[in-house]
Amino acid sequence: MKSAARPRKGFGLSLGAIHLLEFVLLSRRRDYAMKPIPDFLIRRLQPADLESALRLTRAAGWNQVASDWQRLLRLEPEGCFALESEGQVAATTSVLRYGQELAWIGMVLTAPEFRRRGFADALMAEALQYTEQRGVSVVKLDATDQGIGLYRRHGFVDECEIQRWRREAGPQEGETLPYASDFASDRVLFGTDRAAVLQDLQEFDAASLPGEGYAMGRPGFLAAYFGPCVAHSPAAARRLLRWFLAKHPEEAVFWDLFPHNQEAVQLAQEFGFTPVRTLVRMHRSQAGARAFLNPAEVFAIAGFELG
Ligand SMILES: CC(C)(COP(=O)(O)OP(=O)(O)OC[C@H]1O[C@@H](n2cnc3c(N)ncnc32)[C@H](O)[C@@H]1OP(=O)(O)O)[C@@H](O)C(=O)NCCC(=O)NCCS
Repeated sequence: MKSAARPRKGFGLSLGAIHLLEFVLLSRRRDYAMKPIPDFLIRRLQPADLESALRLTRAAGWNQVASDWQRLLRLEPEGCFALESEGQVAATTSVLRYGQELAWIGMVLTAPEFRRRGFADALMAEALQYTEQRGVSVVKLDATDQGIGLYRRHGFVDECEIQRWRREAGPQEGETLPYASDFASDRVLFGTDRAAVLQDLQEFDAASLPGEGYAMGRPGFLAAYFGPCVAHSPAAARRLLRWFLAKHPEEAVFWDLFPHNQEAVQLAQEFGFTPVRTLVRMHRSQAGARAFLNPAEVFAIAGFELG
């Protein structure tokens, strides 16, 4: 794990070496040369850090709850990073690998009082080193306006827009549907095996229409979350959406979709959803890596931190 600190007396360095070190550090940090370099330590996020991680989530106004952090810690404990400064968790970043082909970066959060000190930048460098050391060929994420500059500086390029839509609480008729996993079909559409994530998500809400698609949902702090939803036709997606809305009549619902998927947009409008924010899906690929598409059958993503 990496730590950075202002050079102090007593390290046995000459004044010249200290100036050289400062020059290297400050020139990496571009235009903020006159600001002090803060002390920090990057380490693995631990289950005991849950409260701190949730504090960052709430400060950013995000929807994730404790079970979302616990899922990441369960699925990829080594990929969950905390940046500690002044004795507290000041920033976080998570990496979730889908085999060696794809990794998803999420939970890029810095506490408001620690922003603009290069903490997210340092965590991103750590997260990318983690993926490189494990030979991952494509890294993706969903970027907010606040994060996009950071990601571009780390070599990410825009892929497509992704939108969060919201529906207020309200009654909805729908069927009760069973669930049977079909990881093989999902693999074809998502582009790689995400059975471990789907298995973890199915503990909340899950329904399927054999041969036609499936949908899942989970709790959120601001709204119940609809997704992932993969369906081979708008008719199948409509049945799955009705199933989910009928189960959550007393909650607002979030649905993250690709605006280029016109069938998803039409469905969202038909059921009273409106767009509330736009993010940019971005990727960073090794030479020769294959592309992961966002096919029309993906009606809802699994989450900004999951893909
Ligand atoms: C996005 C976010 C994680 C950035 O965290 P951060 O720790 O402030 O990020 P950094 O300090 O590495 O970089 C932020 C800016 O500060 C600048 N900066 C970095 N170190 C600095 C320093 N010592 N002095 C002054 N500015 C500095 C960077 O150049 C960058 O500027 P720019 O984005 O205007 O180009 C944070 O704003 C946040 O938590 N936002 C809410 C959640 C969110 O949207 N997360 C992104 C999800 S995709």
